[in-house]
Amino acid sequence: MTQSASGPYPVRPIDENEIDGFISVDEHAFNTSPWSADDRRVALDRFEFDRTLAAFDDTTPVGVTMCYSFQLSVPGLQMLPAAGVTFVAVMPTYRRQGVLSSLMRRQLADVRDRGEPLAILWASEAVIYGRYGYGRASWHLDFTLRRGEGGLAGAPAGDGLRLRIAEPEAALPELAKVYDAVLASRPGMFGRNDAWWRSAIFDPAEQRHGASPLRCLLAEDASAPRGYALYAGVDTWTGFLPENVLTVRELMAADPAASAALCTDLLSRDLTTEFRLPHRPVDDPLLYQLADPRRTRPKLNDNLWVRIVDLPRALAGRRYSCPVDVVLEVRDEILPANAGRWRLSTTTAAPGGGLAASCVPASSPADLALDVTELGAAYLGGTRLGALTGSGLVAELRPGATRQLSAALTWDPAPWCPMVF
Ligand SMILES: CC(C)(COP(=O)(O)OP(=O)(O)OC[C@H]1O[C@@H](n2cnc3c(N)ncnc32)[C@H](O)[C@@H]1OP(=O)(O)O)[C@@H](O)C(=O)NCCC(=O)NCCS
Repeated sequence: MTQSASGPYPVRPIDENEIDGFISVDEHAFNTSPWSADDRRVALDRFEFDRTLAAFDDTTPVGVTMCYSFQLSVPGLQMLPAAGVTFVAVMPTYRRQGVLSSLMRRQLADVRDRGEPLAILWASEAVIYGRYGYGRASWHLDFTLRRGEGGLAGAPAGDGLRLRIAEPEAALPELAKVYDAVLASRPGMFGRNDAWWRSAIFDPAEQRHGASPLRCLLAEDASAPRGYALYAGVDTWTGFLPENVLTVRELMAADPAASAALCTDLLSRDLTTEFRLPHRPVDDPLLYQLADPRRTRPKLNDNLWVRIVDLPRALAGRRYSCPVDVVLEVRDEILPANAGRWRLSTTTAAPGGGLAASCVPASSPADLALDVTELGAAYLGGTRLGALTGSGLVAELRPGATRQLSAALTWDPAPWCPMVF
């Protein structure tokens, strides 16, 4: 252990026989109904007991968290180990006594000890995690369209594509092929094993809130699946007027024609007056293929938060869009090994696209001064470093350094994490 976390209650991983107390903290903190047997099965399927942490008041857990061991796609077709922080909860009667802070500090020390360069999470509230060095690294858009607004203009032809409705479970091999193809090009996604796929299509009747079972629409040609949508509809009538609502849980397309084919079908479904597509990437092809994109009524939200845990490994582990050579003065109060001056300079063109870089300690004057939070925000190439300098969160010490680093960090396609974990 590199660091012991000081806090009001002792922190340690839980044993398997302490799982009920762990879940109870989560249920109380999130105001959920008691977990059903199915909820437990699907959650425990992916559980990593050795990566749990709980703060104990005597023998009772009063604050909890856990990490998943992910492989995360980062710019340049790279996959890096990343700790997926989850189940963050403190018993309501123990809030604001520093329980979360003690858990976060211990967890980050553990992640560093395991050699993972990154930690990632989804934030229930945007005010919680900046203080621990997590930055808003990707963004998503929620779309809502109404009947007649889903017409596409200028979408590429389907070249042999056909659509097929399938049972989600039976279609898992096809879904995984499409997902892996997208994962190979888009930063911000984590690799899914069988347990994650079971979770992706988990659809207990008591959580449908009146909707149909989860359905699957596949786009495929003679040789391979190229896209899929997992969706459900609510069958609603006002008198004799059909007013169904269709919600897409996940839409993944390996190419623009597959995206267009899926959206054309889904956004024109009969009887339906409202189409909801939450959590879409900010560069979703739909925004450019629709005849009237304003009709998506886009709502912007933060998506994945990134914490740089091992700075030189993280920065050398991704690729860069153009040449860069800068010295960074980095602040990191929680993981001091990251603090100090680092020289980031691109080296050679990398096989997967972009430029490789080295990141080594530096003694020359810094070009930019920033907190590790801002470096995490810019890391996946979705939050522009220039915007962070423009907001006063990054200090430019050499004129032009922001523009150079911002251009090098920015990445196409935009980072996106399709699944809350
Ligand atoms: C969010 C939560 C985990 C915080 O736990 P906690 O033990 O009360 O947090 P701490 O006492 O360690 O607080 C640390 C700091 O964060 C601040 N903070 C924590 N939660 C906050 C919140 N929801 N809103 C605003 N500030 C918050 C505290 O005020 C404190 O600030 P300070 O350091 O300036 O004094 C807890 O309130 C909770 O379980 N909430 C519901 C479940 C949830 O949202 N979990 C997060 C899932 S991503």
